Amino acid sequence: MPFRRKKISVIGSGQVGATCALMLASRGVGDVVLLDINLGSAKGKALDILQTAAVQLFDSQVQGTADYADTAGSDVVVVTAGSPRRPGLTRDDLLSINAHVVASCCREIKKHSPQAVVIIVTNPLDAMCFVAKRELDFPRERVLGMAGILDSSRFRTFVALELGVSVRDVQALVMGGHGDSMVPMPRHCFVGGVPLTELLEPARIEALVERARRGGDEIVKLLETGSAFYAPAASVVQMAESILRDQRRVLPCAALLEGEFGVSGLFVGVPCVLGGRGLEKVCEIKLDAAERTAFDYSVGRVQALVDDLARLGL
Ligand code: APR
Repeated sequence: MPFRRKKISVIGSGQVGATCALMLASRGVGDVVLLDINLGSAKGKALDILQTAAVQLFDSQVQGTADYADTAGSDVVVVTAGSPRRPGLTRDDLLSINAHVVASCCREIKKHSPQAVVIIVTNPLDAMCFVAKRELDFPRERVLGMAGILDSSRFRTFVALELGVSVRDVQALVMGGHGDSMVPMPRHCFVGGVPLTELLEPARIEALVERARRGGDEIVKLLETGSAFYAPAASVVQMAESILRDQRRVLPCAALLEGEFGVSGLFVGVPCVLGGRGLEKVCEIKLDAAERTAFDYSVGRVQALVDDLARLGL
C-alpha cells in the first residue's frame, strides 16, 4: 500500500482553528485542511502557515478551502466553527446559532469523512458535542469534546505559578462540564509526585480552583474582543496527536458516558485513554462524597444545556 500521511481537517479558520492548524502542521502530525465559510480567511491563513514551513522545518501540507470535498477521507476533524460570545447575544441565541453551525458541519463531515474521529471545540461545548453526536451518528469512540485538558492546564498553570515550580511537574485532573461547573480534583493533583493537598492550604487550593474555573472569563475580559485561543488550540492538538500517533495518553476529555460514573447519554469531562480508534477507554475512578456532589451538580448543568436544546427545538 502506498504511504499515506495522516490528514486532519480543521473546520473554522478563526482564532482557535487557525492556531490549531499552525500547531498541527508545525508538529508534523499530518497534512492539514483548513475550512471556513470565509474562503479568503481559510486560504490566506493556510498559505501563511505553509510559508512558516521553510523556517520551522516541517513537511506537512496546509490547504485552505470552503469546499468539504477537500476534507474527504480525513483521519481527524476538529470543529471550531461558530459564533463567539458577543455583547448583546443571549445564551439562548448563542446556543441556537452554534447548534445550527455544528449540525451543518457534522452533516458534511459524515458525508466526506465517515471514518474520522471528530473533536468538537465550539461552545457551549457539552451541548455542541450532543448535537454533533446526533448528526454524525458515529460510535461514541469517534466523537469527543475538548474541555478538560484546557481546564486542567489552566489549573496546572496557576499551581505552578503559586509554588514557583515547573508546570511540567504539576499533574492535575479536572472533570465534569466545561467552564464554571468544572470539577477540579485536588486529591488527584500532584507536584513532582507529592499530593497538592500536602503543599497548599485548602483555602489557597480553592482560590486557584476558582481562578481556573473562571479562566476563560478572565481572558475574555482582558482581550475585550474574542476569547482564548492559544491554550484551547494547544489542548486540541494534544488530543489529535494522541489519536493520530496512537499514543494512548490519559487525558481529560468530554466523552459520551454510557453508564460510567452513573451517567448515561450525556457528554461529560472524564479521564479518557485516546488512541488510534479515538476513545479507547473511559477511566472510571472512585469519587469521594464532596467530589460526587460537585460532579453531580456539574452533570446537572450539562443536562440543563441539553434540555435547553430541546426547549429551543434544536
Ligand atoms: N462553517 C464553517 N466555518 C464557519 C461557519 C460554518 N457554518 N460559521 C462560522 N464559521 C467560521 C467563521 O467564519 C470564523 O472564521 O468559524 C470561525 C470562528 O472563528 P472565531 O470567531 O475567531 O472564533 P474562535 O475564537 O476561533 O472560537 C471558535 O471555539 O473555543 C471555542 O468558544 C469558542 O465557540 C468558539 C469556537
